Amino acid sequence: MEKDKLLAKVNEIQWCHSIDLGDGVVTPGLSKTRPLGDHELPAMEGKSVLDIGGWDGLNSFLAEKRGAKRVVTLDHYVWGVDMSQRNLYWEKCKEKGTFPDYRLDETEFWDPTLPGRAGFDLAKEALGSKVEAKVGDFMKVPVDEIGVFDVVLFLGVLYHLRDPLGALEKVRSLTKEVAVIETSAIVVPGYEGESLVRYYSADELDGDFGNYFGLSEEALVSMLKCVGFQSTVTVAGPPVVKSTLFRKTRSKVYRLIVHAYV
Ligand SMILES: C[S@@+](CC[C@H](N)C(=O)[O-])C[C@H]1O[C@@H](n2cnc3c(N)ncnc32)[C@H](O)[C@@H]1O
Repeated sequence: MEKDKLLAKVNEIQWCHSIDLGDGVVTPGLSKTRPLGDHELPAMEGKSVLDIGGWDGLNSFLAEKRGAKRVVTLDHYVWGVDMSQRNLYWEKCKEKGTFPDYRLDETEFWDPTLPGRAGFDLAKEALGSKVEAKVGDFMKVPVDEIGVFDVVLFLGVLYHLRDPLGALEKVRSLTKEVAVIETSAIVVPGYEGESLVRYYSADELDGDFGNYFGLSEEALVSMLKCVGFQSTVTVAGPPVVKSTLFRKTRSKVYRLIVHAYV
């Protein structure tokens, strides 16, 4: 595709990910999250990779670049929900002090033309990528229909799910070798080392009604073992918290990345 044409198309899309499309074109992603570094990713050469909640596909294209033999990006929510309508609804809920009905995302706000997939589709075309797109809520699509993959990327999705243990169980059922779980985790000064689950009421975390649970590292690791992963390695862990004589109950949020092995 000609550079001018590509740039014009890039500028029509609201991007989550900053993706280098080559020829000096980088998509203007809104995400501030640093992409995973080499030491934060498992080997992918010759592997099959499933990227759950892949959005614009940054991590899927990275997996392909790292030599994965097959990559599938599975997403649902951001691809199909009419965000402008949903945001208006959320604003009304905030004004009234009520919880939104999340089920409307798949009914009233659902746009079957998948406008939110435009970024993934354009990046795939520009990169000449073979990454496959699969539309669906990974909690609802049967394992037989998704398949089982050597490597499963589960990045930035766990805190969006209403049933975290069930979600990890589903991740386990889709994983042949290793799953990479990246999440917004918690540490509570004075309670380091404890297995804690923090429920975010309403839009408490980042003003997003779709954020539900933050886990401590211990809780995540224990839940991964509970659903059948044999071992885990934490590749980005909790910050060092100064010890205190007095227990405090305010939790801090940080980025946690764990590799879970089958
Ligand atoms: C915070 S974004 C993370 C995007 C990307 N994985 C990353 O790390 O940059 C969360 C993504 O998970 C997707 N998602 C949330 N719940 C999902 C579900 N049940 N099934 C499939 N995708 C889901 C959203 O649509 C969105 O693309």
